[in-house]
Amino acid sequence: MNKKSLNNVWVSGKKVLVRVDYNVPMDKEGNITDDTRIRATIPTLEFLLSKNAAVIIASHLGRPKGKVAPEFSLKPAAQRLSQLLFGREVLFANDSVGPEANKMAAALQPGQLLMLENLRFNPKEEKNDPEFAKHLAGLAEILVNDAFGVSHRAHASVHGITKYIPAVSGFLMDKELMHLGQAVSDPVRPFVAIIGGAKVSDKIGVIENLLNKVDTLIIGGGMANTFLAAQGYQTGKSLVEEDKLPLAKELMVAAKEKGVALLLPEDVVVADKFAADAEFKAVPVAQIPAEWMALDIGPATVKNYAAALQGAKTVVWNGPMGVFEFDAFAAGTEAVAQAVAASGAQSIVGGGDSVAALEKLKLAGKISHISTGGGASLEFLEGKELPGVAALADK
Ligand code: 3PG
Repeated sequence: MNKKSLNNVWVSGKKVLVRVDYNVPMDKEGNITDDTRIRATIPTLEFLLSKNAAVIIASHLGRPKGKVAPEFSLKPAAQRLSQLLFGREVLFANDSVGPEANKMAAALQPGQLLMLENLRFNPKEEKNDPEFAKHLAGLAEILVNDAFGVSHRAHASVHGITKYIPAVSGFLMDKELMHLGQAVSDPVRPFVAIIGGAKVSDKIGVIENLLNKVDTLIIGGGMANTFLAAQGYQTGKSLVEEDKLPLAKELMVAAKEKGVALLLPEDVVVADKFAADAEFKAVPVAQIPAEWMALDIGPATVKNYAAALQGAKTVVWNGPMGVFEFDAFAAGTEAVAQAVAASGAQSIVGGGDSVAALEKLKLAGKISHISTGGGASLEFLEGKELPGVAALADK
């Protein structure tokens, strides 16, 4: 990368603001249900502490719409971080830009950690407000951006702030950019991408960009129905984006022209209703009953997709193959998870459901890189420049 990383700067004894993405899922009692994003920043934080930096951590959580909302407080994240650092004290400021944060940041000593309250309690964060960015910058001498997950947003703490203090990438950011970057710019072939999820409209940019890169593109999930309908199959009550039928046709033509194998389901698991307890059966795509809907890929498709993954050297997977949250329609996604893990390829997985399937099957350890970015990893795969990355200091 032609951007400066934490490895390229002197941080000893300095005040360092670390932007992290601690937008973690929580239950109703405020317990963190998945701390992956916190764990993923530990190498950066430990490095800074080992260099005796005074570390100020800033993040957003959820979408509180610029208002203070206790259910979106980062306090639970501070507690979890402290546990992950073996009980090390994590001080907490009840604002991000304000008197308490100013005072606590000013008093922070080398080797100490301070976490600021949710940046999005202030509407100026998402507006990329220059005053807000300047205030935040005033807390530290350097910004370490380890928040890959939010770097597709031009917000004050990832973008505007870089006008006032130098910004470098943290180790998590480096890892994300290295894995995703290598897949899209210099993949070891064969390169197979698996794109799933409900709607084609969410993934148009990704499919279009990947068609220029991959050898094989596997389509699953609800979006496959739109492709099947575009091929002329009767899809019954399945989710089909009628307005995307011409696009699906264009994508199929483009794949042919580029010599990309575009794989679509040959059979599907259909259900008589959209419910966990629906009646279901596997049928060839030419036999979807008029009153039923496709909710997963079928067993013949699973075999075909698994075969396509065998021998792959680079695999990118984003999005489930079916309605994974209902057990009856999770088999396709789980089989793909197994096939990706067994492929031995350089594998990169993003998106909540794909990652959940890997974790459920205890296969996460077999994946080369699980991205902590949802929207950010999709935008990266679309070939877009992420504002938070573009704003990092050049080498
Ligand atoms: C995410 O979870 O994808 C990031 O934290 C970004 O959150 P946002 O979509 O609310 O900006």
